[in-house]
Amino acid sequence: MDILYYLIILYIFLIIVIVFSLIFLLFAFQTIITIIKTKVPFARTPDENINKMLAELKRQNIPPGSRLYDLGCGNGRVLFEAEKHGYKSVGYELSLYQYLRGLIKKKLNRSKVKIIRKDFMRQDISDADVIFTFLVGGVMSRVGEKLKNNLKKGTIVISYGFTIAGWKPDKVLETKPSLTYIYRI
Ligand SMILES: C[S@@+](CC[C@H](N)C(=O)[O-])C[C@H]1O[C@@H](n2cnc3c(N)ncnc32)[C@H](O)[C@@H]1O
Repeated sequence: MDILYYLIILYIFLIIVIVFSLIFLLFAFQTIITIIKTKVPFARTPDENINKMLAELKRQNIPPGSRLYDLGCGNGRVLFEAEKHGYKSVGYELSLYQYLRGLIKKKLNRSKVKIIRKDFMRQDISDADVIFTFLVGGVMSRVGEKLKNNLKKGTIVISYGFTIAGWKPDKVLETKPSLTYIYRI
């Protein structure tokens, strides 16, 4: 009887370990596929830099209610901060793990930000007033083409860490460890 009891406990324990391992493997696999597809790994913009970027928007008189997109929004950190400043925040993210983290944070914060699991390169973002990106140098010229063709005149484009090839920034913010480039279409 005792042995049967321990065997059942062991069996349940093994099932739990297997289920968690499968979930972990699924996320790891999907993350690797996303990085191969987008050539952009996840990294976070430091909080201090998000605050500087939002302060700059205020300095440029971008009013609350304006629409801000984070292209490759990770777990939505920029979106949630922008929402606190009154911006309508929308983010695109392909990584399932980061996307789900964003949805959980949205629920917990009772936030109205939109986080969409789609490739931003294929979306219409022409209603943007502000674009934020933190990607990598290798994709920036393709992203620049997309923004030039899709955005309306006057839209502000903020790129943390990487310049957009062929574009001249209006302003460069002294952020660390990398600079933040501000452009206007
Ligand atoms: C360096 S992280 C930046 C995360 C967040 N914006 C931040 O600043 O904290 C870039 C994110 O962009 C996502 N990404 C890259 N290309 C994408 C695409 N074409 N469509 C949607 N998401 C993309 C990646 O999965 C990654 O999570």
